[in-house]
Amino acid sequence: MKICVVGTGYVGLVTGTCFAEKGHTVCCIDIDEERIGKLKKGISPIYEPGLDELIERNQREGRLFFSTKIRDGLEGTQLCFIAVGTPPADDGRADLAQVLAAIDDIGSELSHSCYIVVKSTVPVGTGTLLCKRIKNHLRERGMEKINLEILSNPEFLKEGMAIEDCLHPDRVVVGAASDEARAVMRELYRPFVSEEKIIFMDPASAEITKYAANTMLAARISFMNEIAQLCDKVGADVLSVKKGMASDRRIGEYFLNAGCGYGGSCFPKDVQALCYIGEGQGLDMTMASAVSKVNRKQKELLQIMMRERFGEDMEEIEAAIMGLAFKPHTNDMREAPSITLIRGLLNCGASVRAYDPIAMDEAHRLLPDNVQYAADIESLLAGADCAVIVTEWPQFKEADWEKFGGLMKRKIVFDGRNICDPEKMRALGFEYYCIGRNMRPR
Ligand code: UDX
Repeated sequence: MKICVVGTGYVGLVTGTCFAEKGHTVCCIDIDEERIGKLKKGISPIYEPGLDELIERNQREGRLFFSTKIRDGLEGTQLCFIAVGTPPADDGRADLAQVLAAIDDIGSELSHSCYIVVKSTVPVGTGTLLCKRIKNHLRERGMEKINLEILSNPEFLKEGMAIEDCLHPDRVVVGAASDEARAVMRELYRPFVSEEKIIFMDPASAEITKYAANTMLAARISFMNEIAQLCDKVGADVLSVKKGMASDRRIGEYFLNAGCGYGGSCFPKDVQALCYIGEGQGLDMTMASAVSKVNRKQKELLQIMMRERFGEDMEEIEAAIMGLAFKPHTNDMREAPSITLIRGLLNCGASVRAYDPIAMDEAHRLLPDNVQYAADIESLLAGADCAVIVTEWPQFKEADWEKFGGLMKRKIVFDGRNICDPEKMRALGFEYYCIGRNMRPR
């Protein structure tokens, strides 16, 4: 099949590359010339394990192309994907400017019938809006005979696992009105999943599915974070509680890890956008709003624990921050708990030194100038009053605390991801604080 993908951000690039990997011919379009220039040379603008090799091989084998001209992508294409960003506007609403610009571009060049598939996460009803808009363009150009249908095909890619998620999805959700469109989507995804894993529905349901799925996952995390706080109050262990709950097959084990809050480009924005959509329909969206509210408070928790330990004035405190990315295996720091923590500590006067295996460039861009950076774990911890674990990178999980304790000024650890064993840490002489397993009533 010949496919056009508009947008070479995270979703567009991964999806387009994986379509090519499965044998389709794909042209990825972006207005950013520098980005397209680099991609043509095989340089990926994002860090995602396995992506560079796939881009290089599929370009070399003539299945994957990059261009800044929509005309190149549309030529002979059966399917045109829109995979541009929908960042949150100030009021929480998804900002559709890039999606509208993409549909205008397509409408000004399209000269044959095709299916337009929205992969970007968009509010309910966007498909209908886009359909009207592109038909206006075609009418102005005297091309109203062209047959068009707008489909919804939300993505469920996890950063760091995106290639695997894309090549072997749990399910594919497709919102399509006509049988013909469904047949084309079935054909597209045949090399990826068995037919029963393709779930067809109307476009509005597909649009809601994306928001509802992400909000449900975020809700599980916020719920466990609330339970973790209760555990700390009464002297219980949230990991035991999780184990006890998760062994009920109806509950399962995923997304029940308490920690210092969720971040990333999806959960915070999608939960907020769902609230906005529901409130626009006159609903309270009590559950979804609570999920956001709990998370905002959770991101403050590490600094609250540190203020309880050191006092409001932290002028004398050197804090070593372990991990800056919103989760391991990515350099993405969007909405990362590390940002909230570091700003809070600087406000209290603390000196902040930070280290992340791959997010250092992002950190320089996003964090205040007075943050210092270390080149490795040893230099991060040397002379520090405390270590604060914010991202559960494998190298932090495997840390040799006996050795590292010897480098620190004071042996104090705040573990925002519950990756250390509390008993071992205390046996090594650490003052160890974590989330929901401090086991001392407060
Ligand atoms: C998420 C969804 O999983 C994916 O389906 C969707 O398309 C995009 O959003 P992603 O943002 O890449 O993917 O990260 P994910 O692995 O889901 O983690 C999100 C956040 O939740 C991270 O900050 C992570 O640390 C946190 N988290 C996750 C927890 O705090 N506890 C958990 O048990 C799981």
